[in-house]
Amino acid sequence: MNSHPNSDTDRVQPTDAESEIETQRQLIDRLDGEILRLLNDRLSAAARIGAIKQRVDLGVLDGGREVHVYQRLLSLNREGILPSRFLLRIYADLICASREIQQIRPSVGGDGEPPARFAVFGNPVGHSLSPIMHTAAFAATAFNGVYVAVPVQDIRPAVAGLRALGFRGASITLPHKESVMACLDEVEDTARRIKAVNTIVNAGGRLQGYNTDFSGAIRALKDKTSLAGRAVAILGAGGAARAVAFGILAEGGRVTVFNRAAERGRKLADELQVEFRPLSEFKADSCEIMVNTTSVGMAPRGDDTPVAAEKLRPGLVVMDIVYNPLKTRLLREAVGAGCTIIDGLSMFVHQGARQFELWTGMKAPVDIMRMAVEAELAAL
Ligand SMILES: NC(=O)c1ccc[n+]([C@@H]2O[C@H](COP(=O)([O-])OP(=O)(O)OC[C@H]3O[C@@H](n4cnc5c(N)ncnc54)[C@H](OP(=O)(O)O)[C@@H]3O)[C@@H](O)[C@H]2O)c1
Repeated sequence: MNSHPNSDTDRVQPTDAESEIETQRQLIDRLDGEILRLLNDRLSAAARIGAIKQRVDLGVLDGGREVHVYQRLLSLNREGILPSRFLLRIYADLICASREIQQIRPSVGGDGEPPARFAVFGNPVGHSLSPIMHTAAFAATAFNGVYVAVPVQDIRPAVAGLRALGFRGASITLPHKESVMACLDEVEDTARRIKAVNTIVNAGGRLQGYNTDFSGAIRALKDKTSLAGRAVAILGAGGAARAVAFGILAEGGRVTVFNRAAERGRKLADELQVEFRPLSEFKADSCEIMVNTTSVGMAPRGDDTPVAAEKLRPGLVVMDIVYNPLKTRLLREAVGAGCTIIDGLSMFVHQGARQFELWTGMKAPVDIMRMAVEAELAAL
C-alpha cells in the first residue's frame, strides 16, 4: 500500500540538489581544515615575532602594525562577498588571540575581566553605522570593548539602565539628542548651548553629556579649509544645522542660514544672531563655503539636490553632511563645477573619533574607522 507513489524513491535516491549540497559541504569541511591550519600558522608567526622582540627588548605591542593589518585586509576584501563588519570581527578575535599568545594585556579588561560596554541609543538604529565604526576602532587599538545598537523609545529608563549596568558610554541619536540632557549628571557647556547631546561618558558613575557632532563637522571642514573670517552658507535649520553653525561661529566664520521653512530658519538665525535667507535665494557668489545640513539627497532619494548645479561655482568649498550615498548628487555636481568637496562621512567619522577619545583617552584610528564605514556603505 503506497499512498504516495514517489515517496519511497525520493527517500532512497538523493536528488540532484542533495548531492550538490553534499559536495559543497565536503568543500567547506576541507576549507575549514585549511583555514584552521593557516590560523595556527599565523599565530605561530606572531608568537615568533613576540619572542624576538622580547629577546632584543623591543615593545611587543605595535599598534601601528595592527592598523596596517586592518587597512590591508579591508583593501584586499573589496571584491569579496565577506561583509567588512564580519571581516573586522573575525580579525579582532584573531588579533586578541595573537596578543594573548604574545602575553600582551589588552588596554582595558583582560585576565577574565569583561569588556567595556558601549551602545548607541536611538529610534530607529537598525541601520546605524556606529557599531561597525567603533568595533573597528576598538579592534585596531587593542581596546577591549563591545559596542551595540539598541533601539530606544523612552530615553529615561534606557539611561538608567546604562548607569545600572555600568556601561562606559553611549552614542545618542535621533530622536533623543535633546531629551537625554535631563537624564544626565552634567552637560558640557557647548552641548548645552547647541541643545543636543550625542555622547554620554560614564565617569565613575557620573554621566556626562557631550556634543561631538559640532567638533566632527569642524574637524572635517578644517581638513580642507580655514574658517576664520570666511563667509559660510548653511543650508538647513534642523538639529545638525545648529551644531554645524555653532562650530563655525566658534571658529570665527561668518554664517548665513538658508532654509526652506522661513519660520524655522529665522528662529535659528535669530538664536545664532546671524542672517537668514530662503533656501531658494541661495547664491554661491555670496559665500566661500557652503554646508548642506538638510536631508535632501539622502538615500533612497539620492537623485535630489538642495541646490541646482548652475548655482555652484569654481573654488567654492562644498560640504554635504549626508553620507548615504557617499557621493551625493550635490557633491557630484560640485566636482563638475570645480568646487572643493567634503563628504558627510568625514564629519561622521570625526564625531565618532572624538567619542572614542572621550571614552578611552586614546588617539582614535581615524583611517580605520573611515575604511570600515566606507566598506559597509559600499555594500549597501
Ligand atoms: N554626517 C554626519 O555625521 C551627520 C550628523 C547629523 C546629521 N546628519 C544628516 O543631516 C541631515 C539632517 O539632520 P537633522 O538632524 O538636522 O534633521 P532635521 O532636524 O529633521 O532637519 C532637517 C532639515 O532638512 C530640511 N529639509 C528636509 N527636506 C527638505 C526638502 N525637501 N527641501 C528642502 N529642505 C528640506 C528641513 O527644512 P525645513 O525646516 O524646511 O523642513 C530642515 O532644515 C540628515 O540627513 C542626517 O542624516 C549627518
